[in-house]
Amino acid sequence: MRQISVIGIGAGDPEQVTLQAIAALNRLDVLFVIEKDGDAAELAEFRREVFARHLAPGRACRVVELADPPRDRRAERYADAVEDWRDARARTWEGAIAHELPDGGCGGFLVWGDPSLYDSTIAVLDRIRAGGALQFEREVIPGVSSVHALTARHGIALNRAGGTVQITPGRRLKAGLPADADDVVVMLDRDCVFCELDEPGLEIYWGAYLGTPDELLVAGRVSDVGNEIRRLRHEARQRKGWVMDTYLLRRARPG
Ligand SMILES: C[S@@+](CC[C@H](N)C(=O)[O-])C[C@H]1O[C@@H](n2cnc3c(N)ncnc32)[C@H](O)[C@@H]1O
Repeated sequence: MRQISVIGIGAGDPEQVTLQAIAALNRLDVLFVIEKDGDAAELAEFRREVFARHLAPGRACRVVELADPPRDRRAERYADAVEDWRDARARTWEGAIAHELPDGGCGGFLVWGDPSLYDSTIAVLDRIRAGGALQFEREVIPGVSSVHALTARHGIALNRAGGTVQITPGRRLKAGLPADADDVVVMLDRDCVFCELDEPGLEIYWGAYLGTPDELLVAGRVSDVGNEIRRLRHEARQRKGWVMDTYLLRRARPG
């Protein structure tokens, strides 16, 4: 039986790769690397650095590059497009695992942050197994997520006493803050949606390029710092060609 490891490698700081991730990496016979069209070269470089830095001297592991199928990003087709994309990925990965990984071998995928958070690696592997043509065992190694990198860098707790925290992509926030969560983590927001929210006293803890030398951190009331964050984000994107940011919105509590 083949074994596939889905290994979380943290959100940008090579020091935040766990001992468990390093051990899993050193068990691999084949590392599958997804080559995403338009992915920032620096992100690919970070993956290579993690791999090179933590692979024990003399340990051989073959690297197999997989071209990522294109994805239709038109908003009106969002759910269907994600399904089509996952199907296409599953077909590519299934072929690669079958041909490149011998029976009894151990293959792996490195996942940014934690594999359970806004990442489709687990879902694509499950789709292959559900297809029935190729069987393998899989394990998931947790990683430090961007959410936890964010709260650590701001030195704050994610939740308030007895409170609910919601994690959401930016596009869902356009309808407003959820009624039943006072603390909301927002990821994948290209539009600085926080600037459009009508919430007096709303606080933001924002971080971009967390864990990297380019890290940016801003905290304060959205009414005071919202525009500054938007400006910083825009400038950083112009300068580097890409940006990854995450933020926590905290509603003012009465009293
Ligand atoms: C596809 S999701 C992957 C999340 C990842 N699995 C995790 O655990 O953080 C990509 C989003 O994660 C967030 N993100 C990932 N790395 C980040 C970093 N170093 N700094 C800020 N945000 C980051 C951004 O919101 C980005 O749009």
